[in-house]
Amino acid sequence: MQHRLRKVHWDALMIKHGDYMDQNWIDVCAVDELPDDDVKGVQAAGHDIALYHINGEVFATEGVCSHGNAKLCEGYLEGHEIECPLHQGRFDVRSGQAMCAPLTADIRIYLVKKDNGRVLVDVS
Ligand code: FES
Repeated sequence: MQHRLRKVHWDALMIKHGDYMDQNWIDVCAVDELPDDDVKGVQAAGHDIALYHINGEVFATEGVCSHGNAKLCEGYLEGHEIECPLHQGRFDVRSGQAMCAPLTADIRIYLVKKDNGRVLVDVS
């Protein structure tokens, strides 16, 4: 749901400004470094971020599980869900929503786009 709201807001910005003017894009890696149906950990402006490349679309969430100190980039990606490597909690990478116990809190998602063969994330 949060993802959909952000998408609507995103579209509104594009219409209003004609471009992504209000975004602070940070180049985090080449698209080629992110194999399809895989997850990769990157850093942007001091944030740990997990990138997911699923069916040609890229998603970005915070990189650390909300339940403990586990890196989601070391987890198991199945469809649009990332399974935490420590206690197997699962998040929907499109919304950051916690899908099962032991998780009790969602994770943040970030705006992300592909541009000229690069992956860019907005951490603002
Ligand atoms: Fe991720 Fe416990 S640290 S589910």
